[in-house]
Amino acid sequence: MKIFLDTANVETIRMYNEMGLVDGITTNPSLLSKEGGDPQKVMETIVDMIKGDVSLEVVSTEYEGMLEEGRRLRKFGDNVVVKCPMTPDGLRACKTLTAEGIPVNVTLVFSSNQAILAAKSGAKYLSPFIGRLDDIGQDGISLVKEIHDILRNYDFKTQILVASIRHPIHVVQAGKIGADVVTMPPAILGKMLKHKLTDIGLKNFLADWEKLKKENPRIRI
Ligand code: E4P
Repeated sequence: MKIFLDTANVETIRMYNEMGLVDGITTNPSLLSKEGGDPQKVMETIVDMIKGDVSLEVVSTEYEGMLEEGRRLRKFGDNVVVKCPMTPDGLRACKTLTAEGIPVNVTLVFSSNQAILAAKSGAKYLSPFIGRLDDIGQDGISLVKEIHDILRNYDFKTQILVASIRHPIHVVQAGKIGADVVTMPPAILGKMLKHKLTDIGLKNFLADWEKLKKENPRIRI
């Protein structure tokens, strides 16, 4: 399973990247707006920092505008994946950009029907937003399972990028299904790292070592 971070926060990306945990990044206009500053600089910094795919989203809603923005965004680096919305223009732009060798992430996928069409338009990734489905009382993770089952029946190359992750259990559920990628807010990755028994265990080991050192002042490792 690949782990992408769903953020435009450069410092957090740097920190987790140094741990070797970041396979890629997804951003969107809301995440960029949260960080403030010059969004182009932020996007370029992230693209330079990360070896894997970095999804940058178009804001135009029309085909020509999406193409123009997509081509411009791709100039930031060879690892840029252009995020197009799951709309008729978005799928048309996906087909054209893909034919030009620019990979596309079709975003805002909320049904298996949409997923089939995103895959048919040649998307590198399709992003089901599972947390937003849970928010309205639908089961987001069941959608991932259904899409995974459907894509497996055919020769689609499109990868499932599970998005709108709300908690670590979503990550485990996506992994059990075999989803290709999960993109998560840094806070969720932080929660995945932690376990209180790890903290207690480490504290006890260190306390016991201190005790041993008092008894044998010369020991060292
Ligand atoms: C994915 O690419 C999106 O940026 C993201 O996962 C949206 O998640 P949200 O529902 O938490 O805004």
